[in-house]
Amino acid sequence: MGSQWGKDRTYVRAMREGYRSRAAYKLLEIQERHAVIRDDDNILDLGAAPGSWLQVARSLTRGLIVGVDLSAIPPLEGVTTLVGDLTAPALRDEVRTLLHPVNVVISDAAPKLSGHRSYDQARAIGLGEEVLAFACSVLKPGGNLVLKSFQGEDFSHLLSEVKQYFLSVRTFRSTASRKGSAEIYIIAKNFVGPSQ
Ligand SMILES: C[S@@+](CC[C@H](N)C(=O)[O-])C[C@H]1O[C@@H](n2cnc3c(N)ncnc32)[C@H](O)[C@@H]1O
Repeated sequence: MGSQWGKDRTYVRAMREGYRSRAAYKLLEIQERHAVIRDDDNILDLGAAPGSWLQVARSLTRGLIVGVDLSAIPPLEGVTTLVGDLTAPALRDEVRTLLHPVNVVISDAAPKLSGHRSYDQARAIGLGEEVLAFACSVLKPGGNLVLKSFQGEDFSHLLSEVKQYFLSVRTFRSTASRKGSAEIYIIAKNFVGPSQ
């Protein structure tokens, strides 16, 4: 009951403060603790619907912002949105045309859950690897990445992959995540490109 009430309170707060979802507080917390976005950064948000991270990003930078999701993202002033699969080459090309350079990639993308824990975990890690590959193909040297993942089998493998491309890599659990959730964010700063 405690967590149910907590969930409702965060949701009600988000609606009252004009955010499209409670996820807004996760990015606000990440920014407060890790300062991933500077005020002139261009931002790519992968898995962006309904758009609360885009709202937060818009408040943090004067740069360009592009959001991508499988679902349509309701229009947001000063943000370009694309409907598509972040793993699709055509979508990736469209992003490259719209946004250059990319200073920060933020991704809260998560696959739809089936309820089968190990299957869901494997898909989440697979999606995280896709986000990492896409981010590494667009990020400017020195750029940052925020990547949502889930703790469990293969998480440490994804984490060590991220470490190959960034000088500083940390993990972060948000207090805005639902109680008992395996959700964890990888905060990777200072992109250096593939190690030799
Ligand atoms: C937790 S929601 C994101 C919430 C968002 N950060 C916000 O603040 O409103 C996860 C999103 O990931 C998207 N997603 C999952 N797989 C994707 C893919 N392959 N390509 C694009 N979006 C994807 C889902 O459609 C879903 O909208």
